[in-house]
Amino acid sequence: MIDLHNHILPGCDDGSQSLEESLEMARIACAAGIRTIVATPHASGMLFGNPKREVLPKMVDLNAAVRAQMADMSIVPGSEVLLGKGTAKKVIAGEILTIADNGRFVLVEFPFEKVPKELTYELDILLENEIVPIIAHPERNSDLRKNPHLVFELAKKGCLFQITAGGVAGELGKPAMRFSRELIKHRVAHFIATDSHSPTRRPPDLREAVGVAAQLLDSKEEAWKMVTSNPAAIIGGDVPEIPEPVQIERKKWFFQR
Ligand SMILES: [Fe+2]
Repeated sequence: MIDLHNHILPGCDDGSQSLEESLEMARIACAAGIRTIVATPHASGMLFGNPKREVLPKMVDLNAAVRAQMADMSIVPGSEVLLGKGTAKKVIAGEILTIADNGRFVLVEFPFEKVPKELTYELDILLENEIVPIIAHPERNSDLRKNPHLVFELAKKGCLFQITAGGVAGELGKPAMRFSRELIKHRVAHFIATDSHSPTRRPPDLREAVGVAAQLLDSKEEAWKMVTSNPAAIIGGDVPEIPEPVQIERKKWFFQR
C-alpha cells in the first residue's frame, strides 16, 4: 500500500519531531502493509514555510535512514500546501514540492476548514497549468460538508480528493465519518491516506478504512485502488483511471447529518 499523506519528515512541522519518531512511524506503517510513504510536511502557511529547496535534501536523508532499517520501504517527497493567495504561482515556480517532485500533482488543504470563494481560482490556475490539485481531507471541511455539491463541482473540474483513514474509521468524529463515507459511495474519494502526525496521532495504518470502503463500494478491488494503483499513478506522474463522480444530493445529505 501507498500512504499519500503523512507528516513523517522530522522537525519540519507539527508531525514527527525526531528521526527516532519517524523511524517508529515507518515501522508501524511497514507492519500495516504500507511500503511507500509520501512525506507531506505543511508548506506555504503562516507557521511552516518549508520551501522545496530546504525540505528536499531532508527527504533524501530520511529515505536513506528508513531504507537502512526497512529495505522495502520508500519515502517519496511531497508537501501539503495551505491554499492561500499566490499559492498557485509558488507551485508553478517550483518553490513548493509537488508529489514525487514531478510537477504534476500537489496536495492542497483549505484554510480554517472553509472553502474561501476567493481562493478557488488558485485551483483553476493550477489546473490551467496542468498541475492537478489533490484536495486533502475534505471530510474535515465544514463548508464542504454543508455544500457537498462543491466537491462534485471541483471533481468535475479535475481536482482529486484524498480522505483520511481515521476519518473513515470514525476517529475524527461522526460528521467527518459520515461525510467521508458519502464521498466514497459517490465515487469522489480517490485516495485514502493516513495524515499521520506521530506513532500515536493518526498512526500510519490504512487497513480498517480500506475494509470499510470495500463494504461501501461492494468491491474490494475498487477500495484497494485508493491505496495502491491510484497513488502509484500520482507518483508516476499519471492521472489515475477514476470512475465518474456521482452528484451528492444536498437535501438527502443534510437530513443525514
Ligand atoms: Fe496533513
